[in-house]
Amino acid sequence: MKISLDEKGCLNIDHSDLKNFSIHPLWLRERLNTEKYLDQNNYQRLYEPSLLDPEIKFQKYFIEDNILKVEFTDNSNGIFSLDKLNEELKSKDIIPKKKSWKNEFKELPIYDFNNLSEEKYISKLLIDFQELGFVIVKNTSAEEGTVIKFAEMFGPVRTTNFGKHFDVVSKPKANDLAYTSLGIKAHTDNPYRKPMPGIQILHCIANEAKGGDSSLVDGYAVAEHLKKEEPEMYEILTTTNVLFKFVDQDIILENYGKLIELDDSGNYVQSRFSGRLDYVPYLEPEQLESFYAARKKLYYLYESEEFELNFRLESGMLMMFDNIRVLHGRTEYDVNTGFRHLQGCYIDHDSTEGKLRRLKSNL
Ligand code: OGA
Ligand code: ZN
Repeated sequence: MKISLDEKGCLNIDHSDLKNFSIHPLWLRERLNTEKYLDQNNYQRLYEPSLLDPEIKFQKYFIEDNILKVEFTDNSNGIFSLDKLNEELKSKDIIPKKKSWKNEFKELPIYDFNNLSEEKYISKLLIDFQELGFVIVKNTSAEEGTVIKFAEMFGPVRTTNFGKHFDVVSKPKANDLAYTSLGIKAHTDNPYRKPMPGIQILHCIANEAKGGDSSLVDGYAVAEHLKKEEPEMYEILTTTNVLFKFVDQDIILENYGKLIELDDSGNYVQSRFSGRLDYVPYLEPEQLESFYAARKKLYYLYESEEFELNFRLESGMLMMFDNIRVLHGRTEYDVNTGFRHLQGCYIDHDSTEGKLRRLKSNL
């Protein structure tokens, strides 16, 4: 394997993708990983990298068995796996990318709670979750508190003014329409919060009433569809800031955001949608009419047969979904025909992503 220094003193390694990179001595020096440089319990640096000699150079370098050995002009030295370097230089993340979906599953991502003691099985669940933005889990228990137990397998629960968990039951003078028996169309929860809750888990304790079926729809897939089929609508939905608001006796929560939010490069970031809570800003009449037409189109796509997945949560089942990507809803139910009780809570994206990285590194 050929290895050489270029005129800038950077290392060039003629090996797979590494040949596309010039490795700067300071960049590699900061990565020395033995106990002199990194605390071996937490992999954190024991010195201040900003104070390293900016003129540092490679003193010696050679490769043996796919391992790079280097010595620097400040007398430090270390070894690096070429494969690991390769991965880092290509910014390879082990978190899988989103896969958009429509209502055409041959098999739903349903997992059995009884197998969740196996690391491989949890890892598979989390990969599906990253790709699809939701999973369903069966055979949990019908006991209250299950949702918290499940959530804490991944990470801490995000408590809100609804509590650590919330009980989705029909009650009088409800401070949210979720706590009535009305149907709720596809929506993202709590778009009025800063930041919005990342992940929602809804666990079914009882679903004996007539109605109360669940739905999920992939906001990412709908955004991609609109971009292709209705670029003008897509443009207005991705640029208009809408106010979302929650009001009760104790608090008024407000936040602004686009119904489809993109990053600076135009990549999909998230969806926001809640026909119960949105306030369209003042716009010139023509622009306003265009916005309303686009929102209507979005609404119909979210509830279309092409995109909306419908199923029923039975007692002991739960669903976990990415609340900023996958919208959820339920049909109306009749309280006179039986009892319905769900418990829900929120966790952060950090928890599922972080757990998956940990598991993949273990396996
Ligand atoms: C909610 C909600 C769905 C359901 O509580 O946010 O959307 O099935 N509930 O009751
Ligand atoms: Zn909801």
